[in-house]
Amino acid sequence: MPDNLVLIGFSGTGKSTIGRLLAERLDWPLVDVDAEIVRHFGKSIGAVFAAEGEVAFRAVERQLVAETLDGQRQIVSLGGGAMVDLESRALARRGNVVIRLEARPETILARLWRTPNAEERPMLQGEDPLGRIRSLLVARADAYANANLVVDTEEKAPERVVEEIVGWLERGRT
Ligand code: S3P
Repeated sequence: MPDNLVLIGFSGTGKSTIGRLLAERLDWPLVDVDAEIVRHFGKSIGAVFAAEGEVAFRAVERQLVAETLDGQRQIVSLGGGAMVDLESRALARRGNVVIRLEARPETILARLWRTPNAEERPMLQGEDPLGRIRSLLVARADAYANANLVVDTEEKAPERVVEEIVGWLERGRT
């Protein structure tokens, strides 16, 4: 088994749900780096972006990714922008298995509007959230390409996504 299973992908691709189910299935702890950031600042991610700005957010994100990936046998869910950082990207690839979850921009937007406080999400700000998601997916293509496995979550029950991942691990990652 690798050191950690690291889930990456844009918001709304299912990292939290799949992370929780995968953690239950493998009996490994789940570390959600976004939740660690909220704990660190003592406020929501929207409030951190608003009060401290993205640069401060990214600096703490980088530090918490490094601390988390120091551990072993964990399911680690990274925030959608974490892999853009070259240091975090290198750490994620080193000794861990990186699993990218995917969905179409329209599906991502529909899922995000169904989550609490959707209007506070920094990446949905502005007139045209769908256009923003599309352009961020293009801009982040290199970051998201750093995966050992890519799983399309489109029109799939979360349990099925988990079975695909577990099956792939059990087959020796082929
Ligand atoms: C972000 C994604 C969010 C969170 C922050 C920034 C991004 O994480 O880290 O709002 O840059 O795409 P999720 O992918 O868990 O929503």
